[in-house]
Amino acid sequence: MSIRIDYSNMIGAGVGGLDEAAWGDAAQAFRAAHADFTRLREAGAVGFADVVSEPALRKQVTDYVASARGAHDDIVVLGIGGSALGPIALRTALRPSGWNMLSAAERGGFPRLHVLDNVDPVTISALLGQLALSRTLFVVTSKSGGTAETMSQFLIVAGRLRDAGIPIADRFVFITDPAQGALRPLAAAEGIPALDIPSNVGGRFSVLTPVGMLPAALVGVDVGELLDGAAAMAARCDTDELRQNPAGVFATLQWMADTRNGKLINVFMPYSDQLRDFAAWFVQLWAESLGKQKPDGTFVGPTPLAALGATDQHSQVQLFMEGPMNKTVTFVAIAERSMDVTIPAGFGHITELGYLGSHTLGELIDVEQRATAGALARRKRPNMTIMLDRVDPWHVGGFMMMLELATAYAGQLYGIDAFNQPGVELGKQFAYALLGRPGSDDARREWESLPAADPRWTV
Ligand code: PA5
Repeated sequence: MSIRIDYSNMIGAGVGGLDEAAWGDAAQAFRAAHADFTRLREAGAVGFADVVSEPALRKQVTDYVASARGAHDDIVVLGIGGSALGPIALRTALRPSGWNMLSAAERGGFPRLHVLDNVDPVTISALLGQLALSRTLFVVTSKSGGTAETMSQFLIVAGRLRDAGIPIADRFVFITDPAQGALRPLAAAEGIPALDIPSNVGGRFSVLTPVGMLPAALVGVDVGELLDGAAAMAARCDTDELRQNPAGVFATLQWMADTRNGKLINVFMPYSDQLRDFAAWFVQLWAESLGKQKPDGTFVGPTPLAALGATDQHSQVQLFMEGPMNKTVTFVAIAERSMDVTIPAGFGHITELGYLGSHTLGELIDVEQRATAGALARRKRPNMTIMLDRVDPWHVGGFMMMLELATAYAGQLYGIDAFNQPGVELGKQFAYALLGRPGSDDARREWESLPAADPRWTV
């Protein structure tokens, strides 16, 4: 069981990478970043790396799952952003492909899992139209307990249940802050069970709390293994020795590539359909955490970009290979896939077909990853490869923890707070004002002071 990073293609002018001496010097910068982050952990200000070892939180999930066994055909997560992307990533990585289309027997009796992550009326109407409400569990996930999109989803479902004469306490579970927000008192008033997102864990860092664990456990994922993998990675990253700390290596390489060599776009490219949604989860984590204004007024932050191998070799890779030299590419390779398919030999006399016979698809996708990495290096496009032995709960938990820690370290290296998101506030305030939320008069005035749409600039 292992997660390794080969970053040979990130170091040295020959591959367009960092100067080797500068990389040597980076150990000191990382040590300081690690110390700053450790102080936050020890003060209890940031809890995502510690809660994975907390038995009480695991027990909340296992107790609830035991009480719910056999009661639901469908699970629907109501939430957005950090409350939704983790459950989606876990479903795609750790449940068989096309899970929601399998029969109950093929799913081993576990329910289907849907995650809304938006308020598009077309999607929500279609989903609610397909569900048997009396056999569906709605998991309302919101750290703040007040997000407009999630509250709207909740009100819609509560209205449908009321119209169908189904008590809401039977069909809802909440996952939210232990004390803050509207969902806690609502749970108490309506007798709705509620699980905790620890107060020191923010939305995009919450996948390894009940936010990700409960939906995953309800559909049969071994969440004990997932948390064990995460805890093992957290322990591995206890060291402030850069070269021993995989999260530190990832963070420091990306930070240096951006700030010294102008590589401000970080492509994240798994060669596994199982990790397609994992890439979307990482993009939110990296973008919302690191795109910030610094205390000195300057703006920083790398831009993450999700890609999928081998699919994007026929789409974005042309840009990575010959476009502006402003990117790093992180490949994710899988050593052992849960299944493989042999390509039958045939049409040996046709050059384009003959050489493929008796290779496997696993070989083909791996070779394509290595070939693309080599080709990028040849063109002085720095890249690294993260290798997972398998896509299973232990490795996925460990990989998520590695990237969460990397994000926290990168925040320290950039000199910003990786755990807030002040940049999304103004848009929220304007939306509140437009929808008439009480207390938004100032935002209303600011909105009204914006220049009106100019007909000259409309086509
Ligand atoms: O990472 C974050 O903090 C955000 O993306 C939140 O997850 C998102 O805004 C939803 O917030 P909440 O969980 O409070 O409903």
